[in-house]
Amino acid sequence: MSPIPASPVNTPVNRGYFAIGAEGISKGLNIGNLMRSAHGFGAAFTFTVGATYQAREAAADTSKGIQHLPHYSWPRIEDMVLPQGCRLVGIELIDEAIELPSFRHPVRAAYVLGPERGSLSPEMLARCDYTVKIPTTFCINVAMAGAIVMYDRVRSLGRFAARPIGEGGPVVAMEPHVQGGRVVRSDIGRGETE
Ligand SMILES: C[S@@+](CC[C@H](N)C(=O)[O-])C[C@H]1O[C@@H](n2cnc3c(N)ncnc32)[C@H](O)[C@@H]1O
Repeated sequence: MSPIPASPVNTPVNRGYFAIGAEGISKGLNIGNLMRSAHGFGAAFTFTVGATYQAREAAADTSKGIQHLPHYSWPRIEDMVLPQGCRLVGIELIDEAIELPSFRHPVRAAYVLGPERGSLSPEMLARCDYTVKIPTTFCINVAMAGAIVMYDRVRSLGRFAARPIGEGGPVVAMEPHVQGGRVVRSDIGRGETE
């Protein structure tokens, strides 16, 4: 079997951007892990809101993620300043949240997690454009939850070779990308392109 051409792992998603952060997080190790994953998955920046530790110390302990990505430490929700058009997506295990496997990730998104011993505040949930939940029976580690959401974003918005139909089946190389035709607004709905 010929090897599959490597996916461009450094830029699997070439549209939009994302950021990830946490509200009220207290353990440096958790934010350090989150930053490390964020860097690996291609985040544009990381942030904390009302964190109770020094993000700089945490990052120094683990991935040095803060050296590679911009990091914002906002003291309060009112201090948060996201780029124009960036959707805020809460990550929380609550009934009304959208199941992650059914969620369409915004092209421009900032994901926010809750504290280790608690949940996203009602104020933060109110500020979110969407809230998603990972289908687990109980809460998992906050940095782990962040990594799963980032993986789901890259998996669903990125371009990868298809999985084989059956276990152990051949892995087929990705088709080369073909630029689509120009879509004329009046043709939308009739499925026509120029
Ligand atoms: C460890 S949990 C908080 C503990 C939890 N509220 C409790 O006391 O049972 C920390 C954060 O991880 C995220 N999280 C963990 N599991 C999750 C899940 N299954 N779906 C969505 N978010 C999750 C949420 O952001 C949550 O606020």
